[in-house]
Amino acid sequence: MKMGFFTLLIEASLLSVSVLGQTTDVEELAIKNADFATRLYSKIASSSDDNVAVSTLGATLALATLAAGAGGATQSELLQGIGVDSMVKDGEQERIQNILQQLREDAAQIPATGLFIKQDVKADDSFSNQVKQYYNADVQNVNYANGQQAKGSINDYVRGRTGEKVRDVVENVDPQSMAILISAAFFTGQWLQPFNATFTQEDRFYVNKYNIVQVPMMLRSGKYYLAYDPTFKVGILKLPCENGIAMLVLLPDEDVDYTYVDESMTGEVFRGWVAKLKKTKLEIQLPRFSLKQSNSLSVSLPSLGVKEIFGNTANLTGISSSEGLKLSEVEQKVAVDVDESGGSLAEASGNLFMNPLPPRLTFNRPFIFVVYHEVTKCILYIGRVVDPTKN
Ligand SMILES: *[C@@H]1O[C@H](CO)[C@@H](O)[C@H](O)[C@H]1NC(C)=O
Ligand SMILES: *[C@@H]1O[C@H](CO)[C@@H](O)[C@H](O)[C@H]1NC(C)=O
Repeated sequence: MKMGFFTLLIEASLLSVSVLGQTTDVEELAIKNADFATRLYSKIASSSDDNVAVSTLGATLALATLAAGAGGATQSELLQGIGVDSMVKDGEQERIQNILQQLREDAAQIPATGLFIKQDVKADDSFSNQVKQYYNADVQNVNYANGQQAKGSINDYVRGRTGEKVRDVVENVDPQSMAILISAAFFTGQWLQPFNATFTQEDRFYVNKYNIVQVPMMLRSGKYYLAYDPTFKVGILKLPCENGIAMLVLLPDEDVDYTYVDESMTGEVFRGWVAKLKKTKLEIQLPRFSLKQSNSLSVSLPSLGVKEIFGNTANLTGISSSEGLKLSEVEQKVAVDVDESGGSLAEASGNLFMNPLPPRLTFNRPFIFVVYHEVTKCILYIGRVVDPTKN
């Protein structure tokens, strides 16, 4: 009997190891990358007082694309930047690429990544094929000497790859550019628990002490996962979406400045929030919003330790043997649309009037959102809504 029990126990633990083993690499990478995601968001958020939207996975894939063609210190810096350097294994050339590819596919994300190189520099086919395969990234030549034409090519590419959801990534193109890296992504919350537009009403949103705006405020009652973090004095609500993705919406207490949350968020803090969530009956009010944000990553990346690619010592020999290739700019444009609509799996249970009336959580002041893939906890987007009437 005893033997049998222990055998069972061992079998059970072997089983759990092998089940964990399948996802471990992707989960480990997601954990390591989460710090890049939160640091990039903090950096971008700290440079403005307005709405923010960052595709952290898009930025990761863009830098990974470059890393695939970089060598020496330039490559190490890129891998370190996105947090995966310690996962590189000797003799396993394609390890990081494989894991990132799996992550991209698991999270069902289709950000557009384009590397636009000046006309007279030909990228190696092996590089172009590799980044297409792993990151769905595209490498194209453009004629930077003709600014209008170059701008047109880049913007056409992004419109095509995002189904017109993202436009006008670049405004002007420097004719001296050697290579521009473009990242574009869009998120449309396809809620598993959609809001009913019948209950959406104009309501007040307190941008700050002096500025109150009217916004279309959505309303829904139901069971939600909710938590409160007393350290940051922030309420955390989870809104599940299609494809195993969820949005955490963070509402700092009225006496808390949202910049405090912006600055203090880390991968660990984020995972702590997810772990704390508990199911509860709730009535929530969330404004509709639609963000279109441009992020000049060339401005933020150097302070996150990614500098070499922009300098004269950039080693991009894997992209082209042509001397002195370096990156001129990294631009990201992100669209986030949040309204009542639900995904195809929508359950039509939205019963507004529950008995007894549940507590109400109202997002009527600046809030932060984190979109992530639930199984791996990979962070996909982080943003901030300061004024929902603006883009
Ligand atoms: C650039 O990277 C390649 C590949 O890692 C390496 O062989 C080469 O020595 C590097 N060049 C310089 C100048 O560091
Ligand atoms: C929205 O609510 C109204 C009023 O209760 C109801 O008649 C309608 O069927 C609901 N729509 C959906 C899509 O659930």
